[in-house]
Amino acid sequence: MNEVLIEAHGLKRYYHRGSETVKALDGVDIQIRQGEIVAILGPSGSGKTTLINILSCLDAPDAGTLTVAGKSVAGLKEEELVEVRRGVLGFVFQSFSLLPTLTVTENVELPLLFLGLKPDPKRTAELLESVGLTDRATHLPRELSGGQMQRVAIARALMLEPKILVADEPTGNLDKATGEAVIALFKRLAAEQGLAIILTTHNTAFGAEADRIITLEDGKILLSNN
Ligand SMILES: Nc1ncnc2c1ncn2[C@@H]1O[C@H](COP(=O)(O)OP(=O)(O)O)[C@@H](O)[C@H]1O
Ligand SMILES: [Mg+2]
Repeated sequence: MNEVLIEAHGLKRYYHRGSETVKALDGVDIQIRQGEIVAILGPSGSGKTTLINILSCLDAPDAGTLTVAGKSVAGLKEEELVEVRRGVLGFVFQSFSLLPTLTVTENVELPLLFLGLKPDPKRTAELLESVGLTDRATHLPRELSGGQMQRVAIARALMLEPKILVADEPTGNLDKATGEAVIALFKRLAAEQGLAIILTTHNTAFGAEADRIITLEDGKILLSNN
């Protein structure tokens, strides 16, 4: 059996607006193993982003337990959470979040520069090859299609060799065919590198490509196909 990378029980996250309480997450249990793709589905406002942000240590739950790569993250300080994120997690966003004035290569190398580390051209070339962008290495983001930009963002997310890739609506800004290509790339990365991938989507067809689908409604798991 593959290693459990994320284990969460009873996760709750409540937001307070005046006298109103929004139960964005209301008691969620989830387990994610090495090499599997888990899709989180559900209507807008069902808690997908809240859940993915908590699982990736960008936000803390109000209640529940969470272990990420063997480390209990409940009650950790922000500096400690940064270490967990950096060592274990890679992030991909709906809006790609590339820096417009940097080339494809420079965008992919950015995580190293932030840490004051020297890029290794061989490693960058390998990453660009793995996402099929070798011939776009010196281009600027504006010279790329949406699907290509998302593949740059995926290469960047892989630079620090995460165990878990976290993607909130990664296909949200892409057309159907391009979205399918991104999902196919995720499947190859999970199979070849044992990467665990958690993604949220509105698109049930993309969800169906995942190893598991978790459907949220009002902050609770409505359906889980395992
Ligand atoms: N920072 C916040 N402050 C107050 N309410 C929030 C905040 N973030 C999310 N919510 C509420 O929590 C619920 C779940 O939101 P979210 O996790 O973004 O859902 P989804 O990603 O499925 O669309 C929604 O009702 C949303 O309005
Ligand atoms: Mg969302």
